[in-house]
Amino acid sequence: MQFEVIATCNTTRARVCRMKLTHGVTMLPTFMPVATQAAIKGLTPEQVESLGITLILNNTYHLNLRPGIKILDEAGGAHNFQGWNRNLLTDSGGFQLVSLSKFTKITEEGALFSSPFTGEPTMLTPEESISIQHSIGADIIMQLDDVVSSLTVGPRVAEAMERSVRWLDRCIEQHERSGQRDRQNLFAIVQGGLDAELRDRCLQAMIARKDHVAGYAIGGLSGGEEKDVFWRIIKQCAEQLPADRPRYAMGVGFAEDLLVCVALGVDMADCVFPTRTARFGVALTFKGPLNLRLRKHAESIEPIDENCPCPTCSSRTSRAMLHHIVTIETAGAHAVTQHNLVFQAQVIGRARDAIMEGRFPDYLRTFFENYFGDHG
Ligand code: GUN
Ligand code: ZN
Repeated sequence: MQFEVIATCNTTRARVCRMKLTHGVTMLPTFMPVATQAAIKGLTPEQVESLGITLILNNTYHLNLRPGIKILDEAGGAHNFQGWNRNLLTDSGGFQLVSLSKFTKITEEGALFSSPFTGEPTMLTPEESISIQHSIGADIIMQLDDVVSSLTVGPRVAEAMERSVRWLDRCIEQHERSGQRDRQNLFAIVQGGLDAELRDRCLQAMIARKDHVAGYAIGGLSGGEEKDVFWRIIKQCAEQLPADRPRYAMGVGFAEDLLVCVALGVDMADCVFPTRTARFGVALTFKGPLNLRLRKHAESIEPIDENCPCPTCSSRTSRAMLHHIVTIETAGAHAVTQHNLVFQAQVIGRARDAIMEGRFPDYLRTFFENYFGDHG
């Protein structure tokens, strides 16, 4: 990876960086749409690329179940398998410890999942997670971490953090053995729950391994904790993480959270929110979210946003039409998904421009005024 800081804001910790990976350049800060099962739900890879998106996220756990490593190896990796030519990041499967917790058991060796198809138990070790991510061939791969819900308290939080450090060492060893280090970049994931002292200990241990990792994620958040606690942990981590490595806040996708994270020094984020909410009929706009299912849109011939360059708005698809079909016809969900991805890209793209031009605080003020303002 080539990673270069291009501009920094002089009143916040926001920065613009250029990250060059095997499948091209991605400018940071960036928002990564989530394609759990390879595809972004409702869109073709060509459509995603034509929206200007240069980095998406796939999930190791899901790709390992289906299509499985054999097919991925035969295809020559997930890029070929899905027809995606830009950058790809794979999450390790660690998060499924939380999201599928009813079906998992954690041991020092790894995470024991029971297959949703057969009930058969399968062990995902740190070594295996990395080896699957090698078969997938993602440009950025994540360590397997021991993840607990951000609402967990007690000794389990410390245990998960300490295990995540031990698992990082196993991931590093597997990765360095593989000869994939030139093509694939391993990120560590800082854990420690909402406890500042545990976070400090994790940061210290993981920063000590800096020569072996290409970047750092902040994990274990966005699980229903209070906003001020979330911000404090992001701030603490982003401040200590090395300036010459990208910083990735996992599971962050509300526009307002993205911008706060950027102001605190975060470079990357991902979330299913913009695509999932689209399928429920919610379009994101600079004046706040728009629930297209509401009756008031039934007769509106306006597009979602007059000024939006997305295919849905530039073809002037009416709110009335979207109201009519959004949760009934897949085409409606596709139209709103495209809009929402362009919205996310604009929120963060305008942040990059503002940082470059020395007016990031102004951008924040304007964004928050409009987003939370009273629009009658
Ligand atoms: N996605 C959201 N949070 C996390 C996390 O803490 N770890 C991993 N691996 N993925 C995540
Ligand atoms: Zn639009």
